[in-house]
Amino acid sequence: LARTVEVHAELGSTNDRARELLAIGAGLPALVVADRQTDGRGRGANRWWTADGALTFSIAVDAALRGLSPSRYGLISLATAVAISDAVRETTGLVAGVKWPNDVYLDGRKLAGVLIEAPLPGTLVVGVGINVRNRFDQAPAEVRARATSLVEYAEITRQSVLAAFLWAYDDRLRQIESGDASPIQAARFACVLTSRIVTLRVGELVTTGECVGVADDGALRLKSNGGVANFYAGTIEHIAE
Ligand code: BTN
Repeated sequence: LARTVEVHAELGSTNDRARELLAIGAGLPALVVADRQTDGRGRGANRWWTADGALTFSIAVDAALRGLSPSRYGLISLATAVAISDAVRETTGLVAGVKWPNDVYLDGRKLAGVLIEAPLPGTLVVGVGINVRNRFDQAPAEVRARATSLVEYAEITRQSVLAAFLWAYDDRLRQIESGDASPIQAARFACVLTSRIVTLRVGELVTTGECVGVADDGALRLKSNGGVANFYAGTIEHIAE
């Protein structure tokens, strides 16, 4: 599953360490796990707020060698979120939803996030943060209202969630490589946005519409006045109640 494995007591960001490993030519895939992160990064300008007990790691992947072209990077995001949901189900029995493109939700609150970066052509760093044993009592109120952790539902260790994720991720990535549609079907089934009115931002372009599911190629489908349009990238800025 990994040729290089590093486990750190503390790191700024596991994504940054994985980028360094790519730069020095470490054997790939390379897995970097941190017990604590002091400067975790989220998508866009977001920070990833975590207290001790979160599972934070990154995997550096040789995407080109695995035959994954940049046009399929969106599918890798979706497959990563699906693999998190697989791991949560296997370890706790809980059914977590996928918020396209790559967040994982439980009971309307965020359980996990994914930050995918392409630091060098043909390579990817897949960064994953899963709230496993961290609690949000000390978090800012807005984080507390929007985030959740597995410890609120089940007695579970970070190691078992990581092991389950690595197997699930390996399966899901192989399925993407071979053109198997099951990760997309799983994402469609688990999509928490379906039938909701959502606002999506793609750079300067903002679109609001009813989510009518996930297309066969992994795109988010939004219905607005102009009909149904497929989106391949972007950030959900708002979900109407
Ligand atoms: C998001 O929800 O916006 C993405 C959050 C991604 C957080 C993970 S934690 C491990 C890895 N290292 C980082 O600095 N970020 C990702």
